[in-house]
Amino acid sequence: MSDKAKTLGPYEPIEVASRDEISALQLERLKWSVRHAYENVAHYRKAFDEAGIHPDDLKDLSDLAKFPFTTKNTLRDNYPFDMFAVPMEQVVRIHASSGTTGKPTVVGYTRKDIDTWATLVARSIHAAGGRPSDKVHVAYGYGLFTGGLGAHYGAEKLGCAVIPMSGGSSEKQVQLIGDFKPDIIMVTPSYMLALADEFRRQGLDPRKSSLRIGIFGAEPWTRAMRDEIEEIFDIDAVDIYGLSEMMGPGVANECVETKDGPTIWEDHFYPEIINPETGEVLPDGEEGELVFTSLTKEAMPIIRYRTRDLTRLLPGTARSMRRMDKITGRSDDMMIIRGVNVFPSQIEEIILEDPRLSPHYQLVIDKKGPMDILTVNMEAADASISLEDREAAGKLVAKHVKNRIGISVITNVNSPWAVERSEGKAKRIVDLRKK
Ligand code: DLL
Repeated sequence: MSDKAKTLGPYEPIEVASRDEISALQLERLKWSVRHAYENVAHYRKAFDEAGIHPDDLKDLSDLAKFPFTTKNTLRDNYPFDMFAVPMEQVVRIHASSGTTGKPTVVGYTRKDIDTWATLVARSIHAAGGRPSDKVHVAYGYGLFTGGLGAHYGAEKLGCAVIPMSGGSSEKQVQLIGDFKPDIIMVTPSYMLALADEFRRQGLDPRKSSLRIGIFGAEPWTRAMRDEIEEIFDIDAVDIYGLSEMMGPGVANECVETKDGPTIWEDHFYPEIINPETGEVLPDGEEGELVFTSLTKEAMPIIRYRTRDLTRLLPGTARSMRRMDKITGRSDDMMIIRGVNVFPSQIEEIILEDPRLSPHYQLVIDKKGPMDILTVNMEAADASISLEDREAAGKLVAKHVKNRIGISVITNVNSPWAVERSEGKAKRIVDLRKK
């Protein structure tokens, strides 16, 4: 173990290994993963053959760029189980992500995959500041969604006492947080805000709860949102990233001591950033689409999966492994309003600057003749905010959006509770043009 590891705490040695050690392990595992995919999944054999590439051609990590991408459509085309690389007798778990249209994306795990997942979520909770003596309240949904069970197994693996609450039933959530006194909560940031409302509705001060740490993810959230949640609850709020196709939560997790973007658990997932238009691999530091290759997954190896998440790769800080910057947005969530590309996160930052506004918002896109109209629906921070102040706050948001993003928007500041609350992933955009 390096000196760094000794001073930082009881990490797994690989978390603080040298870059050379990490790269060597990645290359060894990558060779295995690419071959495993080629030999056991008909899709990969066909796709590699068509691209004129063979697992033997992978001699260096950079050779991965010669392999074809995998997309959500690849998984849909192979619905439900054709991407599995092991016989069903070896699969011990199946999850699926619903998606808004069409068939769900199905993923499978062997016993070893489940154990790797639990280990990485345990590592993530530890990075967030969690310890075996902690109680963890899991309010990610349990079920086909990977959030609940992923968090659950990881917290158990770390040795924590898990409270498997799942999403919804806000009144009960707040009651149990009061009675069971958990140290950590794992939940989407938007539902955490809904819980803050519920605390207040019950006449409780969220800052006085037993919670010390929140591990938030499953949806984009800005740094401004982190500040807001930390202030409301008096906790450390850290970012957990993941996607079902790669595993679930815990592909990357932010370290509490730096809070500078999730550290990617590079010993199990190899990241690349590509230009989403050309597919070309971009150097670290440049923004583009995040692409992942699984290094150890048995049941469903994934080669160069296009996540559609936009971010950049940054050097390691609290750990030797690289970080990803906070996700700007998903390319699917990019709104094109009169030719200007806009992400909900840009508007979120502006809303959160004004204490007269609550952090709940929804964006509605509609068409007036040939023109796209974007309406920002917000609400007053509390009922005491006067009508004049609501109007002024709405005007200010419109002004900042115009100056910083370059589009005119309609703003509405409604009464508290007017904006629909999420119980899991928030629905930030309502696109009426598609109706
Ligand atoms: O959301 C897994 C997860 C559960 C992650 C709980 C973290 C916590 P999916 O439903 O497949 O899996 O959705 C994956 O959610 O591609 C991102 O667009 C988004 N996402 C997940 N985590 C973050 C995050 C889970 N920390 C998709 N920041 C991903 C921004 C995130 N977006």
